[in-house]
Amino acid sequence: MYNRKFLIGCCYYPEHWDDKDMKTDIKNIKKLGFNVIRIGEFSWSMYEKEEGKYDFSFLIKTVEYARENDLYVIIGTPTAAPPKWLTDKYPEVLYVDNNLNAQHHGSRQHHNHTSEIYIDYCKKITWQMANAFRGYDNVIGWQIDNELNCHRSLSYSEADNIAFRKWLKAKYTTIDNLNRCWGNRFWSLEFNDFEQITCPYPTPAYKNPSWCVDFIEFSSDSVIGYAKAQYDILKELTPGKFITHNGIFRNIDNKKFTETALDFMSFDSYPEFHEQHELMGSRKLGYKLSKMRGLSDKFLILEQQSGPGGQLDYLLPTPEPNQIRLWTYQSIAHGAVGVLYFRWRTAVYGAEQLWYGIYDYDGKENYRSREIRQIATELNRYSNTLLSLEASNDIAILSDFRNDCNNSVESFAGNDAEDIYNYLNYRNIKCDIIFDLDRLNYRLLIVPHLTIASEETAQKIKKFADNGGIVIISARSGTKNLNNHYYRTTAPGVFRELVGASVEWFTQIPKHLDQKIEFNGKILEPKRYFEVLKTDSAEPIAVYTDKFCKGMPAFVKNGNVYYLGTYFDETNACVYEDIIKQHLDVQFADLDKRIEVFNYKTHTMLLNYSEAKIELPYKMYDILTDKTYTAIDGYGVILCEKN
Ligand code: GAL
Repeated sequence: MYNRKFLIGCCYYPEHWDDKDMKTDIKNIKKLGFNVIRIGEFSWSMYEKEEGKYDFSFLIKTVEYARENDLYVIIGTPTAAPPKWLTDKYPEVLYVDNNLNAQHHGSRQHHNHTSEIYIDYCKKITWQMANAFRGYDNVIGWQIDNELNCHRSLSYSEADNIAFRKWLKAKYTTIDNLNRCWGNRFWSLEFNDFEQITCPYPTPAYKNPSWCVDFIEFSSDSVIGYAKAQYDILKELTPGKFITHNGIFRNIDNKKFTETALDFMSFDSYPEFHEQHELMGSRKLGYKLSKMRGLSDKFLILEQQSGPGGQLDYLLPTPEPNQIRLWTYQSIAHGAVGVLYFRWRTAVYGAEQLWYGIYDYDGKENYRSREIRQIATELNRYSNTLLSLEASNDIAILSDFRNDCNNSVESFAGNDAEDIYNYLNYRNIKCDIIFDLDRLNYRLLIVPHLTIASEETAQKIKKFADNGGIVIISARSGTKNLNNHYYRTTAPGVFRELVGASVEWFTQIPKHLDQKIEFNGKILEPKRYFEVLKTDSAEPIAVYTDKFCKGMPAFVKNGNVYYLGTYFDETNACVYEDIIKQHLDVQFADLDKRIEVFNYKTHTMLLNYSEAKIELPYKMYDILTDKTYTAIDGYGVILCEKN
């Protein structure tokens, strides 16, 4: 990972401007206080205008001019936007949607991730680029492709069918085994041969969930394999340069992706997608940023929103003064060691004419460029401090890819992990998000809705609990095996002994039912679904209040293991806070909700998501502005050294 200094810069598209503009822009980029640009990820039609004839001259000019101006460069491989000659010559590389319609030239991401022909062309262009730029020291890293699975994800082309069969053969070896593991006797779905299998095509009624979950996992592996083909070439030809990707999107096992095909994962931060729905909603980006930290403890923001954004049929709100600064520090607070703004100047043509960058079409100074200049000054000045911020959280929330796949297939119950995270985050109770149970250096583990769980998973969680860890498991957990079949044991299946209770009765919550839960003197509202529990070694700690369930257990405690027989939305998840407070010291939970606190070993950072000035409980000296504050400004940031 490159981390000699804090990276600050922007995404730049020299292909949208002429040479003279490029030179002026590069100079101005430097003058704004930036040290890096990201370029090149969408220009395949310029690099290979005709098959096999490569020409990187415009990009080379940009890299050389950046070098003259002391700017680092991150180059994106251009495989998210294939040239027309390629898709015309080989229509089998096209992405096919779930209605079996192929998608065509005219935008981007209209290819699948499995066609060997496409992967081969990607390898060739990647090799040529790596070879062209291997000698440039100011090229410090690569971005593979662009936002894989952003616009589309599961593809149903013939190339996908072929690759899916291969994947299934490797997993199940025999067709009888596959039929058994998928439960294909149900509705006469048995196959006689792998060759009969396709991607799950449109059907009049519900599909086999085991088939669908495998298909999502296969699609994830396809994306990872597609990226890995580029990773191997870049690593071999340019071993000193880092390789990253601007994730994280649906239907990809991002942990596996990061470990297999990247040096580290990076992120694109667009807070206005949240702000447009909810005042101060940008704080909810914390969930994804925490996932990022779980994937790569130090990561880059390859695109940080710097203007109003839109794409023909929508336009997001425009950042208010100081919001860009707030969001930049939000990224840093979660672990970013570099921030690149999207984009330098707004494109005057193309599908993203409405995606405003730091500068508008006229290129003139504006409040955003002035704000970003101030941020650049701070980040350059405090580069070392910002790179060394180290957080350590006591609480982890488990995220599991196979369950994510299952949740999108068996979608009635959903998963409340994000709601739990948001509730706790608004209370400044910080949680890490973890993707496996191998390094459980935590005091408390939240296991939300882990429907698919093996005996091995249950054993790992038991071991954590036996060693004194606190565990909170929620509804429907432990009930399915890895083939997506229900266990023939009483729920919560593999967790039954650990939680010392079983599920006696359950229901989806009908609209006319006003069921509540009484817990710790509070009345809580279950969400969508609830379970009435029967205790064994556990003790009830909450009961239902209505109908025949009145007085029956809703939550139980078995030593240091809790089981909650329902889900919560982010306003009702206080049960998590109450349990946490019984076991851990929680420092900032009662601070004004509009302020987020990050408590590092050496520093404390405060972010105010509201436009209001808010009084602080004590005086704080902010190193970023060299001032002492008794109140934090609207959209303000305070970074304060600990004594
Ligand atoms: C990102 C993408 C960029 C640009 C930006 C604004 O999702 O990576 O290429 O499209 O959004 O829409």
